[in-house]
Amino acid sequence: MGWELLPRREEHRAALVALLESVRDHDGYPHATTDLEAFLFPPTMRRAWVATAGGALVGHVGLASTALPGVIDRAATSLDLLPARCVVVARLFSAPSQRGRGIGRALLDHAAQEAAAEGLVAVLDTAVDNQAGLALYRGAGWVEHGELATTLPSGADFQAVVFSAPNAVTALG
Ligand SMILES: CC(C)(COP(=O)(O)OP(=O)(O)OC[C@H]1O[C@@H](n2cnc3c(N)ncnc32)[C@H](O)[C@@H]1OP(=O)(O)O)[C@@H](O)C(=O)NCCC(=O)NCCS
Repeated sequence: MGWELLPRREEHRAALVALLESVRDHDGYPHATTDLEAFLFPPTMRRAWVATAGGALVGHVGLASTALPGVIDRAATSLDLLPARCVVVARLFSAPSQRGRGIGRALLDHAAQEAAAEGLVAVLDTAVDNQAGLALYRGAGWVEHGELATTLPSGADFQAVVFSAPNAVTALG
């Protein structure tokens, strides 16, 4: 391991923006977004966590109340749930220099557990060509709800794959 997960705090803001800049340079994520600080700190973000290692920020994940158009409805319809029972895993990334060490998986699992603890089902979307994201979600047993043609806040078309956390509805009881 060698890292720990902590609730995101205001003091993380500048380092998080710098980390996301390095992710954008490395991965092209986020797509078509210029204001990284606004992307990381939207008013719809309910809670968020960071991964730290040796005093440095090495990852991030949030739970948000909104997603790209159609994402929540796709998962909710597929799971036969009210959309209000869903919460969105958002802004998940790990430091490019720290990939493949389990940080992404730990952040994903943590967000799903925190959603379940609130009685909510974690859902998310990723780009159809995001090989790392798809491998992470499929490897973690997330349930696929198909592709969705949606729109980014910039207005650009975006082809997404929609997922929900494994066994999430069963866990809700
Ligand atoms: C997706 C991302 C968070 C994965 O982070 P990570 O720290 O490398 O993840 P992990 O080390 O926990 O790896 C999780 C699994 O995904 C697999 N994986 C990760 N990157 C991969 C890649 N490029 N190709 C294939 N598989 C990959 C790992 O092998 C691992 O599988 P395993 O559990 O069977 O060994 C990271 O690549 C990232 O930040 N990408 C840019 C931002 C992004 O796209 N976020 C998702 C937006 S929807």
